[in-house]
Amino acid sequence: MRTVKFGVIGLGLMGKEFGSAAARWCHLTDVNVRPEITAICDTNESRFGWFKDNFPTIALATTDYRALLMRDDVEAVYCAVPHNLHEPLYTDIVSAGKHLLGEKPFGIDRAANDAIMACLAQHPDVFVRCTSQFPFFPAMQRIGRMIEEQAFGQIIEVNAGFLHSSDLDPNKPINWKRIVQFNGEYGCMGDLGMHVCHVPFRAGWYPRSVRAVLSNIVKQRPDAQGNRVPCETWDNATLLCDAVLCDAVLCDAVDPGAGEPFPMILKMQRIAPGENDTWYFEVKGTRAAARWSTTNPRRLELLEYTGGEQAWQRIDTGWTPAFAGITGGIFEFGFPDAIQQLWAAFLSELHEGRRRSLFSGCVTPEEVAYSHRLFTAALRSHAQGTTEVV
Ligand SMILES: NC(=O)c1ccc[n+]([C@@H]2O[C@H](COP(=O)([O-])OP(=O)(O)OC[C@H]3O[C@@H](n4cnc5c(N)ncnc54)[C@H](O)[C@@H]3O)[C@@H](O)[C@H]2O)c1
Repeated sequence: MRTVKFGVIGLGLMGKEFGSAAARWCHLTDVNVRPEITAICDTNESRFGWFKDNFPTIALATTDYRALLMRDDVEAVYCAVPHNLHEPLYTDIVSAGKHLLGEKPFGIDRAANDAIMACLAQHPDVFVRCTSQFPFFPAMQRIGRMIEEQAFGQIIEVNAGFLHSSDLDPNKPINWKRIVQFNGEYGCMGDLGMHVCHVPFRAGWYPRSVRAVLSNIVKQRPDAQGNRVPCETWDNATLLCDAVLCDAVLCDAVDPGAGEPFPMILKMQRIAPGENDTWYFEVKGTRAAARWSTTNPRRLELLEYTGGEQAWQRIDTGWTPAFAGITGGIFEFGFPDAIQQLWAAFLSELHEGRRRSLFSGCVTPEEVAYSHRLFTAALRSHAQGTTEVV
């Protein structure tokens, strides 16, 4: 069993999730590589306690990420900091020769992402991937295998989205995710968009053009002192895309001659009444259709068309993820499992030099770069009321 010594930078909501996944690595039975957290960093020292209490392997806790990057006992870094810090931190991490599992959106805007991509090009030996955990739910893994086997036939339509509801409350205090300076012009697209694009892009379904409608519904929120301050980030985004099946999109525009176009409707919403962290995916093809949502995470719906009656099947999936573990196959799979699978995907690909299947790997930098093209085109589309080439 190879051990990869990890530094974690950013010990907030996501930093802790990753710590917890590492702490119960014995859960997994078919990976021959494991993470060990040796160093942690956050500018807020109050975040150190939970990590120090639970990880005796931590040799350094620092407020200066550069101190973490200088250490020989840090081979890889998980970095979960606000979006305005992605460019400086990710480029420093990669320049220090550390492998990087970075949080989306991988740069606050397209210029920041371009700078990160330029840095990666100068360090081809460093392994870099972006997070996105929902495709690791067993039902999505099954849909992924169907995509890989081309079981859907010609694609008719794709619907994918990520819907939150908590921002419906106008009295929810503002935080960095609702301030343009830290979260970026993309607003909800920067927070939620990569999650929505992961499966379509991995399938090879790329938008050539986009017509976007963006909404800022709650324009003021209370700050920490209770004063109402401007809240200028986009709450909701709906993107109607003209998509094509394309073998390879590598940071560059889709081949305009590729495939038959089909509609792909992508939604990223922070204000979706009644929804609570709802990630959903639906594909309709000439030979099969499938849909799944985190609302009912066991339930996979499939329609396989063989020329007879068209009937939806409802299948209750169990604990059957990409990377096997000790949990019985009939039991339920959840968010912390998906985070651990995502990390297993990163380590397994780092160690084995390849991903085991199309959907058992993390988002690649090239896929992230294409999401920046899409979100930048969506901003233009909304501002001008036009359909924009991606
Ligand atoms: N994969 C997911 O489902 C998911 C969910 C939420 C957030 N995220 C992403 O994770 C990242 C962080 O989000 P979060 O929700 O964990 O935020 P958070 O605010 O809970 O945590 C961010 C942490 O970064 C620390 N930090 C700020 N500046 C720093 C610096 N210079 N050096 C070291 N630490 C610093 C903060 O003190 C804070 O503890 C973002 O990119 C966000 O988009 C991903």
